[in-house]
Amino acid sequence: MPRSRTPRRKVTVIGAGNVGASVAQRVVEAGLADVVLLDIVPGLPQGKALDLAEAGPLLGHDVNVMGTNDYADTADSTVIVVTSGLARQPGMSRDDLLLKNAQIVNSVVEQAAKHSPDAVLIVVTNPLDAMCHVALKASGFPRWRVVGMAGVLDAARFRAFVSMELGISPVNTCAFVLGGHGDAMVPVPRYSTVGGVPLPQLMPQDQIDRIVQRTRDGGAEIVSLLKSGSAFYAPAAATAEMIESILEDRHKILPCSAYLKGEYGVEGLFVGVPVRLSRVGVDEIVQVELNDDERAAFEKSAQAVRELVDTLGGYA
Ligand code: LAC
Repeated sequence: MPRSRTPRRKVTVIGAGNVGASVAQRVVEAGLADVVLLDIVPGLPQGKALDLAEAGPLLGHDVNVMGTNDYADTADSTVIVVTSGLARQPGMSRDDLLLKNAQIVNSVVEQAAKHSPDAVLIVVTNPLDAMCHVALKASGFPRWRVVGMAGVLDAARFRAFVSMELGISPVNTCAFVLGGHGDAMVPVPRYSTVGGVPLPQLMPQDQIDRIVQRTRDGGAEIVSLLKSGSAFYAPAAATAEMIESILEDRHKILPCSAYLKGEYGVEGLFVGVPVRLSRVGVDEIVQVELNDDERAAFEKSAQAVRELVDTLGGYA
């Protein structure tokens, strides 16, 4: 009998911490692709990958999952997810963290891109939008093959809070979030709906304002509860949603950090906007009309990203 020689689709997840391992779990359990989990810590990705593989007989997944410290094992990936980075330590300034993670993302992307020159890169490391700039430069990829995960997570948080406040299922909620993944992010209630009904028709403005603020503080709320570490279940689910739309060529419109070249009046900056995700990566930046307040908030958020990017020096 002839043996199949067709390589299967491969997703590489760099960083085997909580976010990376959870992304690997989602991809494996959905049977979307073979998964390579890579980390610099010897044994860590191997142990987590083996543990995931051992769940296969129980959960019924049969994709291959391997852990490694060697970039050669990531060769020819369709999607590469970058989760590596440090969490902020006591005494570390925002800029210290920025430069430390820029160094890490620069190094991992350079190595990964060499082995998978046609991959789509999904950046998850914070500060998100700035790290997308580092990844774009380090990879040398065209702008549509570098995309940041933030808006899908922020929109999911917004939807969860709407569902909690209204006591309704989150399933048919829809949320629209623009801007950078920071304190100035811009949830847009006018374009957020429950069962097709715009939010402003379902709740008073003060309740909407409260949900918008809670969404902006969503990451910090989890950090303050966990005391050490940050969110990972929802970030991993959000990343998996993007991976699936790319691998399956689903053309979902999702809020992601994308490199703008004039869209929304922004030049040369990664910032969160609705994009269409397909096999090529970002295959369209969807432009919607914003009112004056929304536009001002978006510009303020983009400016905050621009200031971070300006401090990146040679990394961007
Ligand atoms: C969050 C941080 C980790 O939003 O970006 O959870």
